[in-house]
Amino acid sequence: MTDRTSIPVIIDCDTGVDDALALLLAVRHPALDLRAVTCVAGNTDVDGVVRNTLTVLEQAGAPAIPVARGAERPLVEPPRSARHVHGEDGMGDLGLPAPNRAPADVDAVTLLRREILASPRPVTLIPTAPPTNIALLLRTHPEITRNIERIVFMGGAAATGNATPVAEFNVWHDPEAAAILLTAGVPITMYGLDVFTRVAVPGADVRRLRASTEPGARLAGELLAHRPASPEPDGDDQAGGLGDAGAVCAVADPAGLTTRPLPVEVCLAPGPARGQTIVDRRPRPGESEIHEGGRERPLVDVALDVDVERYVRLYLETVAGQRGHEG
Ligand code: BDR
Ligand code: CA
Repeated sequence: MTDRTSIPVIIDCDTGVDDALALLLAVRHPALDLRAVTCVAGNTDVDGVVRNTLTVLEQAGAPAIPVARGAERPLVEPPRSARHVHGEDGMGDLGLPAPNRAPADVDAVTLLRREILASPRPVTLIPTAPPTNIALLLRTHPEITRNIERIVFMGGAAATGNATPVAEFNVWHDPEAAAILLTAGVPITMYGLDVFTRVAVPGADVRRLRASTEPGARLAGELLAHRPASPEPDGDDQAGGLGDAGAVCAVADPAGLTTRPLPVEVCLAPGPARGQTIVDRRPRPGESEIHEGGRERPLVDVALDVDVERYVRLYLETVAGQRGHEG
């Protein structure tokens, strides 16, 4: 339900098991006003992403939120799906029905521009995918930044990568687009792998969700069961990672996230570091800056810590009206 205090948000996604978890949360959170969803190639091809996104919105009982098809491939790189993680259909091969809803008859960049400029209050953009659409938007319609509150981007890593030892998938998939996003000139929060991999729903709660008779809650359970949360050796091997949904938690409840404004630069050079988000955590300039001068690097609010229990509780209470598993 929209009211004067809700936060207008737009999600740009590559649905995607955890993008689906993010959509479920955004649709159901009372403080969020999901105004549009745009789709981009990433976890699967863009037509699959559109289909999955429409299916999730339908299962969640969402109002008629416009969904638009965006870029078929990254700016420079070839498309490289993540079907080995997200299944052949990009969403866990759960056998979900085809959607009855149809996408908007405009492309993603056009829809983004229209919805951002039409919003009565500045929009928070939540890209949970390779940021190709966002880069195209910023280069085609730079005036939209005047009505953007901030961008909370799932991507990058201050420490370890996943697509490569140092690069996170969304940035690795389209490093040039990520570099454009990070220099958009609006406040940016980088919800990277440092926090992304930590927020997991305990197995007992996943089982409860899967047993629910309410379609949205049940879908959340099925999706979480498809996302084992790489636990410690003696940990809960039934736990399911919230993944991209954590970036939506960070918008609904920013106090659950610890961030620091740090210079961030995307490595665009060919070779093993391509796609790395180089986060400068040094307390003072080093020899390179002393001898050669510093380069312009945007300051980004990098997420370094997260209150895991708080976000799990937020997710369960919002998506399923459940209290988290105690103990
Ligand atoms: C990111 O890559 C995708 O597989 C997930 O949906 C998430 O957006 C994590 O690297
Ligand atoms: Ca994603």
